[in-house]
Amino acid sequence: MGGTVSRIGFSKSKFKFSSSKSLSGKTVIVTGANTGVGFETALDLAKRNGRIILACRNREKGEVAKSRIIQLTGNTNVVFKQLDMSLMSSIREFVSIISTEEKAVDILINNAGVVNWKENITVEGFENTFATNYYGPFLLTTLLLDLLKKSPNSRIVNVGSIASMGGSVDLDTVMARRSFTRKEYNDSKLALLIFTKELARKIAETGIVATYVHPGTIRSELFRNLPWILQFIIIGIMRPFIKTPAEGAQPVLFCALEDSVEPGGYYMDCRLYDHTLWVPKSAYDEGLAKKLWESTERIVASCGTK
Ligand SMILES: NC(=O)c1ccc[n+]([C@@H]2O[C@H](COP(=O)([O-])OP(=O)(O)OC[C@H]3O[C@@H](n4cnc5c(N)ncnc54)[C@H](OP(=O)(O)O)[C@@H]3O)[C@@H](O)[C@H]2O)c1
Repeated sequence: MGGTVSRIGFSKSKFKFSSSKSLSGKTVIVTGANTGVGFETALDLAKRNGRIILACRNREKGEVAKSRIIQLTGNTNVVFKQLDMSLMSSIREFVSIISTEEKAVDILINNAGVVNWKENITVEGFENTFATNYYGPFLLTTLLLDLLKKSPNSRIVNVGSIASMGGSVDLDTVMARRSFTRKEYNDSKLALLIFTKELARKIAETGIVATYVHPGTIRSELFRNLPWILQFIIIGIMRPFIKTPAEGAQPVLFCALEDSVEPGGYYMDCRLYDHTLWVPKSAYDEGLAKKLWESTERIVASCGTK
């Protein structure tokens, strides 16, 4: 490893994670791998000769990303599987296919994410941001745990955000569909953080390591649903200060590959940020984490089953 480490999570860091770790014989799932941080993460992992499953909602975009990664890496063991993280039924179908086709899963990267500016309710009745960024990763991860346990030292990387600082988790409103507040992104990323830490406690004996990572502020398609003026400020005016998707992938790769990562750790710029100003205090509330887990389990249990 080398490079400079930024003190501020949203500043542009030159940090480049470097590791010669091979993924030969390993199976990796990257959600939202067709563009942005997910694409760059999958590209790097494919160079390490793993079997890379690009779990994307759009078949055409997923197939284009697959061809591009195969062309750039020469690794033909890259596959596309359809997965809509906002729909619990899609997650159940995906896991049933993966359970039939794969012997084990070595790395799961919950990268897919969305920011909505207008209310968008899924056909299953959930607010889309919350479903994609929190319920989806919760269900996908818990359903894949048996396959993750089949690999020694497997990893779960939850791609979160520093926006979790502005989030709140109210168990009453998490339980129900609520009126759209535009705080769903922050709230969902905080819920994902609390989930990561509770997950790490629950799986402590299994050898699986789960972490939460803020990739930085990145010039990606994440802001596509925002009004043009906000997109102009974030991607236009801020351009020199924000990261490219390849730079944003570095802390994700660090969490997926580096031996020293701590279970349940909050990472930014390839280093542990726990107990800094950037991590909300509620992330350490174990009572809240247990209640959140139970309420989420109740919500997703009945959703998307035939
Ligand atoms: N960009 C930033 O500044 C920033 C900052 C902090 C955290 N993050 C996090 O980093 C992660 C990657 O974001 P990015 O910046 O690379 O954004 P991006 O370029 O918009 O990529 C997001 C990916 O998620 C996919 N996705 C969205 N909704 C989905 C769904 N329902 N099911 C399956 N896939 C879905 C998108 O697929 P489509 O192309 O089909 O829409 C796309 O592949 C996200 O979790 C984001 O919250 C980003």
